[in-house]
Amino acid sequence: MDLKNYRREYKLEVLTEDAVDLNPFLQFTKWFEEAKKYDLLEPNAMTLSTVDEDGQPSSRTVLLKYFDETGFVFFTNHGSKKAGDIQVNPKVAVLFPWLALQRQVRISGVAEKVSFLEASKYFASRPRGSQLGAWVSDQSQVVSSRQLLQDKFKQLKDRFLGKDVPMPKIWGGYRIIPNRFEFWQGGENRIHDRLQYNLQEKKEWTISRLMP
Ligand SMILES: Cc1cc2nc3c(=O)[nH]c(=O)nc-3n(C[C@H](O)[C@H](O)[C@H](O)COP(=O)(O)O)c2cc1C
Repeated sequence: MDLKNYRREYKLEVLTEDAVDLNPFLQFTKWFEEAKKYDLLEPNAMTLSTVDEDGQPSSRTVLLKYFDETGFVFFTNHGSKKAGDIQVNPKVAVLFPWLALQRQVRISGVAEKVSFLEASKYFASRPRGSQLGAWVSDQSQVVSSRQLLQDKFKQLKDRFLGKDVPMPKIWGGYRIIPNRFEFWQGGENRIHDRLQYNLQEKKEWTISRLMP
């Protein structure tokens, strides 16, 4: 397939040093608010990249559930491929591809498991179907058929009928503690804006501009 003619000029906005917040979490909040207003499909979807013990990277989408200056939190199954990768190498990267705004945000950092209590609190807030789904799926394992998952869902629905669905022990969350952010805004003639924040000692961030 020839995709050479897929090209666009980016000219929605420019990103300058004097317009950004010195604190990358506040800058992220500002851009996130703008992404929400833009009515993007799942603005909190982020591409999470992990690296396994052989150095092989892999990427998948997860949903950011909340963030503050302690980090960016998502939830998953601790038996999954991503969880196995994080166990051997907690260094991860996430990407928010806000293409309709001609923007992307890249974040690198270290993933830490959230406490059982924190995960349980979030689990309790999920819709019942999602709670049951967490019980059904041994995430990332091979399954012999689709039907098997449907049958398991039905069994679990009956098992927990009239009761709260507890959080499976294998389920939980990670907090990504960033050490680098990059805010990217597409520019005309491929002269894009890239502002990078690097974490220094004493929790200070330095900002530098990168060539596009
Ligand atoms: C929009 C979207 C949101 C997703 N959100 C999550 C999530 O929050 N947690 C999760 O474990 N998987 C989520 N997934 C599924 C993952 O992309 C992936 O298939 C799954 O986590 C297994 O990945 P792994 O085998 O690499 O561990 C989402 C997928 C999409 C497309």
